[in-house]
Amino acid sequence: KTTRRLVVVSNRLPFQLQEKNKKVSLKESDGGLVSALKSYFDKDNSDNAFTEKWWIGSADFPEKRWENYKGQKQPAQAFEVEPIFIDTKLYNRYYNGFCNATLWPLFHYFPSFVEFDDETFKSYEDVNQLFADKLLAFLKPGDVLWIHDYQLMLLPGLIRKALPDATIGFFLHIPFPNFEIFRLMHRAWKEKIINGLLGADLLGFHTQEYVQHFLKTVRMVAGLDHTYRSIFVDNRVVKAELFPLGIDYEKFHEAARKPEVLQQKDVIVKNFGERKIIFSVDRLDYTKGVTHRLSGFEQFLEKHPEWHEKVVFIMVVVPSRQIISKYNQRRKLIEEQVGRVNGKYSTLTWQPIIYRYNHLSFAELSALYQSADIGLITPLRDGMNLVAKEYVASQIDGRGTLILSELAGAASELGEAILVNPVDKAEVAQSIFSALTQPEETVMQNMNILQQRLKEYTVIHWVNDFLKQLEEVKDQQEIQQ
Ligand code: UDP
Ligand code: G6P
Repeated sequence: KTTRRLVVVSNRLPFQLQEKNKKVSLKESDGGLVSALKSYFDKDNSDNAFTEKWWIGSADFPEKRWENYKGQKQPAQAFEVEPIFIDTKLYNRYYNGFCNATLWPLFHYFPSFVEFDDETFKSYEDVNQLFADKLLAFLKPGDVLWIHDYQLMLLPGLIRKALPDATIGFFLHIPFPNFEIFRLMHRAWKEKIINGLLGADLLGFHTQEYVQHFLKTVRMVAGLDHTYRSIFVDNRVVKAELFPLGIDYEKFHEAARKPEVLQQKDVIVKNFGERKIIFSVDRLDYTKGVTHRLSGFEQFLEKHPEWHEKVVFIMVVVPSRQIISKYNQRRKLIEEQVGRVNGKYSTLTWQPIIYRYNHLSFAELSALYQSADIGLITPLRDGMNLVAKEYVASQIDGRGTLILSELAGAASELGEAILVNPVDKAEVAQSIFSALTQPEETVMQNMNILQQRLKEYTVIHWVNDFLKQLEEVKDQQEIQQ
């Protein structure tokens, strides 16, 4: 078998390294990108076309710790990891700055949060260049390169310039905004980002809408038209396509049988007994709509005293991007609001909101998904939202209701959920009431349809579909030459 390498590149690696008493241990990274790619890698794909799989990303730990880790005995992994070490000051300007204070709020339709700073854009260029340098020393002919997400939008173009024949895929995990939003960026940034992206052969997005926004933006910024979803860039065809990210359905569905999950479920049952459970979990991020959700729940409590003591809202918030001030401020707002609502409604025997600010283990997450009567997932904007899909997959008895924001990418696939406008607290309150009082038959029917759909297009299909279409674009380019 000839060597064929799949080289996945993202800013975030699947783990961080912690060191205690000279012993280095892994801490899993949070977020949808990591959880998607990792579930693909962790599945047994031994029959597929790749003889080697690599994951290249920035290191969230010092180089010395990595050396120590490599010196230790390590468990076998389905992929190799190559960290890129970046000067801390430069990294902060890139990550806290352009990535998460400019691109993230802009692409999620929070223009008033956006910082416009040429210095941080320069750092974004520098870090993308560092990734390119690393890759150019690493890549071999025949490698399939797959670059992920908004932190690395210049990278496809940088690689293309040096290696005109390279096979390059790019996937955007966040929304691609409409042109009126995208155009707010400085002219030079817009041009560089679009030209960077067009260095790829295939560009993937979660929804039809994001693909359309991208194609229009290419026309407005680079003056390039498209036929269907193909763009001609210097006589090279580049495709923009829809690939809605899926999950490892089986992993969540089968988890119910695991002893550690059962144990966690026992704890939940003991604590909450007959009470109905509403559950949400998100990274701490202003795009996730946590404070609006709390207001919706508060309004539900106000309007429905008959449900007091009979329902509890377990709300888990996972720490994220803590050094960025907008994130820190959000944490304070959430905690104040939780305190206020609990203060107002708690009795000696009941607290309406159980709030936790921490990372969850898989067993805890899975037990919570399974125990929840309602998954309340109401982001103000979200590229996809895997939590919604994981909640659905975890309902082994088919008795759960998903309330989902219509502004999450996942809403375009999950029409049988109760779809809500996340800023309308009356609508959120009403949806909670509806979910609690729906006939069981309706609940089970909707859940069944949702589950069938998610079972059919898993993360494995997503990867295989993307890579197959990437190959097809390459074939098409060859015929044209
Ligand atoms: N998740 C996590 N750590 C936790 C709890 C959940 O990494 O403590 C996972 C969750 O299972 C899901 C992902 O984080 O796969 C979140 O993905 P989503 O698309 O919902 O949002 P993102 O965080 O990527 O914005
Ligand atoms: C979202 C982004 C990912 C990112 C994740 C966690 O899912 O699309 O690119 O990795 O959030 O954020 P972080 O900044 O910790 O990598």
